[in-house]
Amino acid sequence: MYLAKFPRVQLAALPTALQPALRFSKALGGKVNIWIKRDDNSGLALGGNKARKLEFLLAEALLQGCDTVITTGGPQSNHCRMTAAAAAKLGMQCHLVFNSREFDLRQGNLLLDELLGAQLHWRNPAEVDDIAQEMSKLAAELQAQGRKPYVIPVGGSNPVGALGYVNAVRELLQQADALNLQFSAFVHASGSGGTQAGLLAGVLLHHLPTEVIGVSVSRPRPVLEPTVTELTDLVLSLLNCSLDPTEHVQVLDQFVGEGYGIPTPESEEALQLLARTEGLIIDPVYTAKAVAGLIHAVRTGRWPEGSNVLFWHTGGSPALFADQIFWGGNSI
Ligand SMILES: Cc1ncc(COP(=O)(O)O)c(C=O)c1O
Repeated sequence: MYLAKFPRVQLAALPTALQPALRFSKALGGKVNIWIKRDDNSGLALGGNKARKLEFLLAEALLQGCDTVITTGGPQSNHCRMTAAAAAKLGMQCHLVFNSREFDLRQGNLLLDELLGAQLHWRNPAEVDDIAQEMSKLAAELQAQGRKPYVIPVGGSNPVGALGYVNAVRELLQQADALNLQFSAFVHASGSGGTQAGLLAGVLLHHLPTEVIGVSVSRPRPVLEPTVTELTDLVLSLLNCSLDPTEHVQVLDQFVGEGYGIPTPESEEALQLLARTEGLIIDPVYTAKAVAGLIHAVRTGRWPEGSNVLFWHTGGSPALFADQIFWGGNSI
């Protein structure tokens, strides 16, 4: 198998469930069958998409003999929370470098970061402009103290992390085959681009007739699309595959609204509609914007009657339990 040569450590609860969203589909007119891939239930301290990436990233860290992990994000970063959980599970030290002024109050993901034993470092963006450099400086300090740090970029979005989503496509395909299902599209929230790159690489490798639609939560399309294209290209190269992803990268950026973490009427409708039709909780920062994009696409007839469309639920619910001011505004 093409992924077998990459080291992987078991961290996530896989496979995640594939579920039909019958009442949600009906509320949107009943012509398109919406399914949900429950990566919000992937384990690692309340779940989310990063569990899959961390399986490959931290396996590499262990292989390199590292005992410490450093990563970055905003104060409500799901990626930081899940990295802290993975480090705890593997007995590694975890350092989180927040691209934010310091907050004293612990809510949502930040509360969990501390509970999970991570060491928090605050870097005010008004004072530092290169967070990657801040992580390198911290790595050097930790090295001088005798530790072996492994640095993970924002969102775990490098080619190794994205392998988690190549593997996710393989997992989904097994579930879909068993139900004799074919999906017209996967719709998901796209931030740093690694999830989308992995999904697209998986779709291309398996020659699936499925669109991968990343709904941006922050960046404009002219910025995110090239990022996803480059990352997909790198993932495919890592897998010794020479396919060109350029024509297949699709980013919708009209659901960001005023910015990262700022709700829109459409994202609030999405949160409420899924809660009240499916009893399903999505998050205000990422998945609600993705579902807003999905709702719009269904209502405007993007897919023909009878199509199956998958909402890939990437998690994020701890942010529901934090005041909006703690969501960050600058994490990706
Ligand atoms: C809940 C949730 N959904 C989606 C994403 C976006 O994933 P990516 O950064 O791989 O684009 C994130 C990233 O932090 C997230 O936390």
